[in-house]
Amino acid sequence: MKKNIFHGRTLAVIGDFTLEERRYLFEQTRRLKRALAEGDRAVIDRYRIDDPDFGLYEVFLEDSTRTKESFKNAAQFHRIKLNGLDVSHSSINKKESYADTFNTLAGYDNRLFIVRSTLEGVCRWLEDNGKDFAGRNGLEVPPAFINAGDGKHEHPTQELLDEFSFLEQLEWDYSSLHIALVGDLFHGRTVHSKAEGLGIFGQVTVDLVAPPELTMPDYYVKRMEDNGFRVRSFGSIGEYLAAGATAPVWYFTRPQLERMGDDILRRQDELRSRIVFKPEFVERIAEGTKFYHPLPRHKEHPTIPPFLDTSDLNGWENQSINGKLIRIVLLSLIAGKIGGDFQPPAGGGLEEKDDEAFLQEVEVSLSERPKQYAEGVNPISDGIVIDHICRGESEREIREHMSRIITVLELYGKGGEWVSHSGVAAGAKKGIIFRPGLTGFDGRQMKQLAAIAPGSTLNIIRDRRIIRKLRLHMPPKIYNFETISCRNTACISHPSNGESVPAEFYRIAGDIFVCKYCEKPHSFKEIWK
Ligand code: NCD
Repeated sequence: MKKNIFHGRTLAVIGDFTLEERRYLFEQTRRLKRALAEGDRAVIDRYRIDDPDFGLYEVFLEDSTRTKESFKNAAQFHRIKLNGLDVSHSSINKKESYADTFNTLAGYDNRLFIVRSTLEGVCRWLEDNGKDFAGRNGLEVPPAFINAGDGKHEHPTQELLDEFSFLEQLEWDYSSLHIALVGDLFHGRTVHSKAEGLGIFGQVTVDLVAPPELTMPDYYVKRMEDNGFRVRSFGSIGEYLAAGATAPVWYFTRPQLERMGDDILRRQDELRSRIVFKPEFVERIAEGTKFYHPLPRHKEHPTIPPFLDTSDLNGWENQSINGKLIRIVLLSLIAGKIGGDFQPPAGGGLEEKDDEAFLQEVEVSLSERPKQYAEGVNPISDGIVIDHICRGESEREIREHMSRIITVLELYGKGGEWVSHSGVAAGAKKGIIFRPGLTGFDGRQMKQLAAIAPGSTLNIIRDRRIIRKLRLHMPPKIYNFETISCRNTACISHPSNGESVPAEFYRIAGDIFVCKYCEKPHSFKEIWK
């Protein structure tokens, strides 16, 4: 039987579903929306899971109306078992870990969890943990997780319904999108999901409209640019309108007061005045423009004031209605009810990067007069020398990093380290660590060394000769070391959260790694504790 690739899938970030998979989901949602409008029972029933044993669990550790209730209503459409964890009376308050909590619920025949949390990267972690739990306990399909918003990180199902709503306005033309993101772009996870999500459109122009205190974090702007989006920034709606060439799609967000520090909260009125739409702006908006909002709106200080509810700008009500439809179809896909006919494009799928490519053997000539490592000390007769550390960096950086390498690899004992001329350019420096008596490193230490001292070489010396020389390159993935840690205190893997989640990083470019869970970028030096 052909595999339904949607069955049992986790949606932790919008990028978990490929562009083609999202297009398929939208196509199905369109069909369902039409069938519901026409009362076409036969088509509608094709989407229903209709299995009272299919267990869906809602676990909301932050407040919610739309996301929680639309999933609940979607579950009722499907006639499946629906439960909600009463978080305020659960053992989470007795400091039970996420892993233990969800393992318990998965053990009660629940297949899919909708999770909202202040901690970032929770669903990615639960997915891994759920696979292990399923393996240990003989569950045929591991539990799946849908991220219903994790801190400031992502909100992938909101992104799906937003894209669907924009496409309705654009009459299903995927070729381009010009959008203004207005409001709290710093704390809002719905706009952060857009850095990847909007890649579904061919040409993308994003206008960021927010005061500097609420502006989009650099990391997401960079991600948008890397995805080929044109990005422009404006400090207020007034400034944006004055610049002209405004977008036909405006996406407003609410100032996320609950995530703000005291200094920003104190200035909330002033900041809000720059992102609230005022009556005098209406005449400057081009015909056909639509406004969207993930909602909720603040009842006293909405960024889209209620006087606009009856105007043609109102796109947010239809957007909210779409939320239930998108979620019905998403559940149907993950339950394996629909999606069996989906054809992934040929050549698709993520390739696993070669984990071993971090080591490169350099030929050593045993006949040549060997380079002798000694500076102020006798040449080393037996031992190891790590050379070319932090080539070209300042002496201070080189020394700081050498001390980090020594701590991480526990290179204590006899030997020393020094800073020398590197030869790559006039005045350039490099670090060297030598340890007489050390015979070499095992594979794990070698990988650790490659990950902490990329670009360096490891020389193994016997009888005053270099018998082996290895050039070390950055590995594509760094994991399985107790000495690494994500720097984001809101990340599920951050030690301060006590969840015992092992840190893991992926290299995205140059020496930049992202945390597997919260996706925060780190330079390779930052990942070490
Ligand atoms: C958003 C959220 O929770 O991130 N709401 C929602 O899911 N519709 C936006 C918000 O709370 O401001």
